[in-house]
Amino acid sequence: MKSHYELATWTALLASQLCAAQGYTNQSEVPLYGQSPPVYPTPNGKGSSNAEWSSSYARAKALVAQMTLDEKSNMTHGFPGKCVGNTGAVTRLNIPPLCFADAPDGIRGQEFVSAFPAGIHVAATWDRSLMYQYGHALGAEYREKGINVALGPVAGPLGRVARGGRNWEGLSADPYLAAAGMGAITRGIQENGVIATPKHWLLNEQEWRRLPNSMGESLSSNVDDRTLHELYVFPFMDSIREGAGCLMCSYQRINNSYGCQNSKLLNGILKGELGFEGFVVSDWGAQHSGVASANAGLDVVMPDGAFWGKNLTDAVQNGSVSKDRLDDMVTRILATWYKLNQDEKFPAVGVYSNLQKHDPIEVQEDHASLIRKIGSAGTVLVKNVNNTLPFIHPKFLSIYGYDATVQSTPWRNPSRFGGGYEVNFGWNTLQGTLITGGGSGGSTPSYVISPFHAISERIAKDHGTLRWDFTSENPYPPYVNSEACLVFVNAYASESFDRTSLTDEFSDKLIQNVAANCSNTIVVIHSTGIRMVDTWIENPNITAVLFAGLPGQESGNSLVDILYGDVAPSGKLPYTIAKNESDYGVLLNASVSFDPFPQDDFSEGLYIDYRAFDKDDIEPRFEFGFGLTYTTFDFARLQVGDVSGDTTEYPNPNGTIIQGGHPGLWENVLSINCSVINTGDVMASEIAQLYIGIPDSPVRQLRGFERVPLKPGNGSVVTFSLTRRDLSIWDVDAQQWRLQAGTYNVWVGASSRDLRLNGIFEITN
Ligand SMILES: *[C@@H]1O[C@H](CO)[C@@H](O)[C@H](O)[C@H]1NC(C)=O
Ligand SMILES: *[C@@H]1O[C@H](CO)[C@@H](O)[C@H](O)[C@H]1NC(C)=O
Ligand SMILES: *[C@@H]1O[C@H](CO)[C@@H](O)[C@H](O)[C@H]1NC(C)=O
Ligand SMILES: *[C@@H]1O[C@H](CO)[C@@H](O)[C@H](O)[C@H]1NC(C)=O
Ligand SMILES: *[C@@H]1O[C@H](CO)[C@@H](O)[C@H](O)[C@H]1NC(C)=O
Ligand SMILES: *[C@@H]1O[C@H](CO)[C@@H](O)[C@H](O)[C@H]1NC(C)=O
Ligand SMILES: *[C@@H]1O[C@H](CO)[C@@H](O)[C@H](O)[C@H]1NC(C)=O
Ligand SMILES: *[C@@H]1O[C@H](CO)[C@@H](O)[C@H](O)[C@H]1NC(C)=O
Ligand SMILES: *[C@@H]1O[C@H](CO)[C@@H](O)[C@H](O)[C@H]1NC(C)=O
Ligand SMILES: *[C@@H]1O[C@H](CO)[C@@H](O)[C@H](O)[C@H]1NC(C)=O
Ligand SMILES: *[C@@H]1O[C@H](CO)[C@@H](O)[C@H](O)[C@H]1NC(C)=O
Ligand SMILES: *[C@@H]1O[C@H](CO)[C@@H](O)[C@H](O)[C@H]1NC(C)=O
Repeated sequence: MKSHYELATWTALLASQLCAAQGYTNQSEVPLYGQSPPVYPTPNGKGSSNAEWSSSYARAKALVAQMTLDEKSNMTHGFPGKCVGNTGAVTRLNIPPLCFADAPDGIRGQEFVSAFPAGIHVAATWDRSLMYQYGHALGAEYREKGINVALGPVAGPLGRVARGGRNWEGLSADPYLAAAGMGAITRGIQENGVIATPKHWLLNEQEWRRLPNSMGESLSSNVDDRTLHELYVFPFMDSIREGAGCLMCSYQRINNSYGCQNSKLLNGILKGELGFEGFVVSDWGAQHSGVASANAGLDVVMPDGAFWGKNLTDAVQNGSVSKDRLDDMVTRILATWYKLNQDEKFPAVGVYSNLQKHDPIEVQEDHASLIRKIGSAGTVLVKNVNNTLPFIHPKFLSIYGYDATVQSTPWRNPSRFGGGYEVNFGWNTLQGTLITGGGSGGSTPSYVISPFHAISERIAKDHGTLRWDFTSENPYPPYVNSEACLVFVNAYASESFDRTSLTDEFSDKLIQNVAANCSNTIVVIHSTGIRMVDTWIENPNITAVLFAGLPGQESGNSLVDILYGDVAPSGKLPYTIAKNESDYGVLLNASVSFDPFPQDDFSEGLYIDYRAFDKDDIEPRFEFGFGLTYTTFDFARLQVGDVSGDTTEYPNPNGTIIQGGHPGLWENVLSINCSVINTGDVMASEIAQLYIGIPDSPVRQLRGFERVPLKPGNGSVVTFSLTRRDLSIWDVDAQQWRLQAGTYNVWVGASSRDLRLNGIFEITN
């Protein structure tokens, strides 16, 4: 497909190199593609962001000054070792190898660790405190296993493509919600002295052709500068501001330049505009050049030497890479190591292959209770006719579906790097209940409390009866005394491939078959993200539906807490569920191309997920931010405060960039508050959501949220603080965030379409 990027110019040199590389004999036949603007040299890390960075940089520089060229080079690439990634040691100076490990939702491939809910499930809690506690608990496990660098959290993919294979690793298709999680999780992880690694930088929005292969180069994500900042960079900003020490560059190309050698993204935006002081690590195998990646801002390559090692030393000796650049790479690594106090009493690496006999290194602590809590807080109730839920001591329940139980042993895959477990749940394998997704982002549960297990325990307490059938597509009709039929299905997704459907026939038939003979059918969907429900959602026999996400090891306990009303649901969808897959339009599928230089133009700009549904006036089945509970809430007394502080069009040009970008971006300029009142008779939490209509932008965008727990009859004031960044747009000409003068619309409500209060405010520059 022709695009405006083809109009961009190539240099003659680049074109002739490409021409030769791709076997074209006539240069004018080589198609013209977009180019990423060159930004050189790499800004040196300065350590000027705060006192901690400053003293860490001073110590790092002193150490680097003592190192030989080979020693420095040794620290910039991976070696075989205990962990998924291991940097080279400098034994002479007591610098140990740094251990890097997956995954964002629990330490992968290890024993005696916890399997936490996946990112998308955490986002569905809309609870800032739980997001932080999640990061903190994860970080504690990494630390106790002696892992220096945790490979997470994830904001790329953001969730542009409805069927994207890895959307579940990240938080939400909304950048503000994702940003809140990215910041809180990063802070939590790093408070343990473990380095967090926000990933993948940037625009890794699909799996199809993320890597170069026999068809040609990888996909190129081509995005305009405004969209890049307002959607895709936005959530990373919060991690970086919280001090993230590492960041992982992505597999695919951006404007045709590979993620780990894209100077605009690494030197320009990350290390320039956002003042990043830490180091950039390549995704595993994502390096495609030696000199070019070094000069574009890559600091560490994994999992091996790839194009560096001896070659990097040579390149420094012959001047292709400056000594300054190599010093900066190593300074950034060591400064981060010092800043996180990893030079002091950091536990020995306790990572083993599952073929190695070793003493248990238990790190779970009491994280199970937090996992259970996040599990229920991220469960979204989308249908509940006539108060079907919560249950009131049912005596007889029937359970159907492959997802209700742990059906077989997860298969063991000792060939995985570091030795590991591949937990491949999914409807198509009938492997059982889904608690995480597949690939490097999947957790490795030490145990799984399945829904069947947890419901069994509960029914036993009530001296009741259960009947079950985990395998039939058309089960026998329920026993006449059964009070409800619970049907469990799931929607699997994994790294390496995108989804080909947002539904599956087996599960839909199963649900319909059960509902045909059971007038109180309750559907539970464990899902990696969006799943269609329209073939059965309006069936009157289907009385309740729960999106139970990817809840981690305490799955069944979290669910029972909701089913029996010990916890009232408060989760809200972090994405839009359409009535029909076709409603996602061009953003349904991954971009599929067999071209040697596949191009993916993000021509929808800012309009993904609910921004697109609002723009095109498409009625979703369940909108972004939607979720029911067991009580009712009123919203009242919207009060928009006075705009205060610096509201000039651009942040003060004299401001010094520190890690996280211009400090002025993070200053509060406005507070908005309202009251939320629990008008029902059950204790529950509402998620109060603030949407702002920024001039020349999507009609409304999430810019505040708060989870408000309320007893029946009680009310509370909720305050939303808005920063300059929250209200700004990215000005492509000025290359700065711009606070526009004008009128802004305000809405507060229970979802992106259930807006209860509205107001306006003015900004003058
Ligand atoms: C190269 O291709 C262009 C466009 O098809 C054609 O005009 C030109 O004559 C070709 N040059 C050679 C040397 O074949
Ligand atoms: C990609 O190209 C677009 C269009 O030329 C440009 O606006 C944008 O800044 C470029 N981004 C990167 C990261 O190269
Ligand atoms: C480089 O690192 C490896 C692996 O940690 C280590 O065996 C080797 O001694 C190091 N080389 C130097 C020059 O320090
Ligand atoms: C140097 O780079 C070449 C590719 O240009 C690669 O084949 C080789 O393995 C590299 N050597 C080292 C020691 O990294
Ligand atoms: C310098 O060394 C690097 C790595 O071996 C090599 O790729 C590059 O071509 C060399 N440059 C010059 C000018 O010799
Ligand atoms: C819900 O309750 C109302 C009133 O009792 C009743 O008329 C209706 O049939 C019920 N609906 C379902 C689906 O049970
Ligand atoms: C999406 O991809 C599927 C194949 O997975 C294809 O059958 C379908 O036509 C595509 N739909 C759109 C809207 O591109
Ligand atoms: C609802 O269930 C009853 C059996 O309880 C059945 O007779 C009826 O046909 C079902 N309705 C639908 C729409 O499936
Ligand atoms: C179950 O539902 C199917 C489809 O509506 C119907 O044909 C069948 O008779 C029902 N069985 C019983 C026992 O109600
Ligand atoms: C979804 O939309 C497609 C294309 O518009 C249409 O063919 C199909 O029937 C729709 N499916 C449902 C369940 O409405
Ligand atoms: C709510 O906002 C108004 C207007 O800014 C302010 O006067 C009031 O103190 C705020 N209320 C609370 C409880 O923060
Ligand atoms: C920036 O600094 C210059 C020189 O000190 C000064 O004249 C100017 O007023 C400052 N601008 C702002 C917005 O503070």
